[in-house]
Amino acid sequence: MNLSPFRALLAGALLAAACSDAAGPFATTRPPATTDAASTTTAAPSSTTTTFAATTAPATTSTAGTASSLLAGLGDPYFPTLGNAGYDVEHYLLDLVVDPEDNFIRGEATITAAATSGLEAFHLDLLGLTVDAVAVDGAPAAYSRDGAELIVRPDAAIPAGEDFVTTVAYHGTPENLFTLGFPLGWVDTGDITYVVAEPDAARTWFPGNDHPSDKAAFTFRLTVPSGLTAAANGTLVETAGAGEATIFVWEMDRPMATYLATVVIGDLVLIEQEGPGGVLLRDYLPADMGDQLPGPLLRVPEMLDFYVALFGPYPFAEYGHAVVPGLPGALENQTLCVFGREVLESHAGGFGRPTVEEIVAHELAHQWYGNSVTPATWNDIWLNEGFATFAQWLWVERDLGREAYDATITGNHGFLAEAPHPAPGDPGPSGREMFHYSVYLRGGLTLHALRVEVGDDTLFAILRAWAARYAYGNGSTPEFIALAEEISGADLGALFDAWLYAAEIPPLP
Ligand code: TRP
Ligand code: ZN
Repeated sequence: MNLSPFRALLAGALLAAACSDAAGPFATTRPPATTDAASTTTAAPSSTTTTFAATTAPATTSTAGTASSLLAGLGDPYFPTLGNAGYDVEHYLLDLVVDPEDNFIRGEATITAAATSGLEAFHLDLLGLTVDAVAVDGAPAAYSRDGAELIVRPDAAIPAGEDFVTTVAYHGTPENLFTLGFPLGWVDTGDITYVVAEPDAARTWFPGNDHPSDKAAFTFRLTVPSGLTAAANGTLVETAGAGEATIFVWEMDRPMATYLATVVIGDLVLIEQEGPGGVLLRDYLPADMGDQLPGPLLRVPEMLDFYVALFGPYPFAEYGHAVVPGLPGALENQTLCVFGREVLESHAGGFGRPTVEEIVAHELAHQWYGNSVTPATWNDIWLNEGFATFAQWLWVERDLGREAYDATITGNHGFLAEAPHPAPGDPGPSGREMFHYSVYLRGGLTLHALRVEVGDDTLFAILRAWAARYAYGNGSTPEFIALAEEISGADLGALFDAWLYAAEIPPLP
């Protein structure tokens, strides 16, 4: 895979230095699950092209004008057709029989949701794959497909306020999206299969409400050929042999955005240890990497201690990484980051240190900022990337000292000032804009500017309050600004306006 476009795209944080599907397993619907059940900016900016013009919004579906068009998409500023109105998902059970050899899945998704309005029909997001049957509350339901919308018409309307259970049986080879210029979704490397979906590819491997504002608990029931390991978010609650296959059941009982759901399948070695505060640290490495954790991952316990002290309790019961070949970056999937092997094994350095370690810190920080507290809409992506980048610089400060932090701040500011870039508070809807280095670096500098303005004690009180008050939920930029003003007692409108929204980067405070 060619790294350079991605390097330019994600210079800020990631690469600064850089079964058989026997025909019948899902013939009958199942009962609903009880869910208890850059660093341093050292990357050369020169090749980056910055696009300021907003791209055209995706066309609305052909149901426009009918009642159901109101249900097709939540009107996200960047992805207007993602997500669906009228209900709120509480739980997904994803029961997948996987044949990695043919990259074929046979799935049954059981989606428990609460109707937020009366529903004669509702939409799910699903792109590609073949739908075999849909049922609502156990009764077969009519359905149709329109682009990436799966439109379901239950026999009887669902009354507002009621819980309902939808099952979707489906199969096929998931298609990949190239929103960021490399394959997103269910990615088959011919060796390991992994899911990286941010921002818009969760809908390519399961039907759901694919918008970060609708977070839900997940259960994964993964049937894979025996000898292979299947990992997913959360807790491994069951492993069972079933003849030629092994079934792995994983539970994520905390609310999770669809884009953070992940599965990793392959010949994997598990390395487990108990981390600070009883957090289970589990890492999955390709079998040929041996059974020793790569150096940058060895510092995770220290990083976890450090971030707990600064940000408050770690939000989940587990943490770790799945290392996969070919991915030109790392993604903070909830409790199980997916980390590109070549990135992890590179020795690219920024300011004389292994930047890989900063990426490790960055992904860990996302568990608070992005995963527990999730942007309500995609235009607030700086709440993820700016925060994780700032957190990564705090690790630099703690590890190498204040001078290294200051050099990072100055270096990144100088780098940004050299060339026009999108304002991080509203970078634009394309993948290139959303994950532009400005979102990372100028987003991170926004929190540095806030630090200088209010002082360390107040800054960390704000960051802790943000993680606590919006834990397991969604937050928006106006809500963050309001919280910062509430805790500091200062009027911070001008500061955030200048750092987040002005075309020109402000001078360093
Ligand atoms: N959120 C990632 C980060 O921490 C960037 C990213 C978005 C990504 N989508 C991805 C990385 C998909 C790998 C695969 O910076
Ligand atoms: Zn990030």
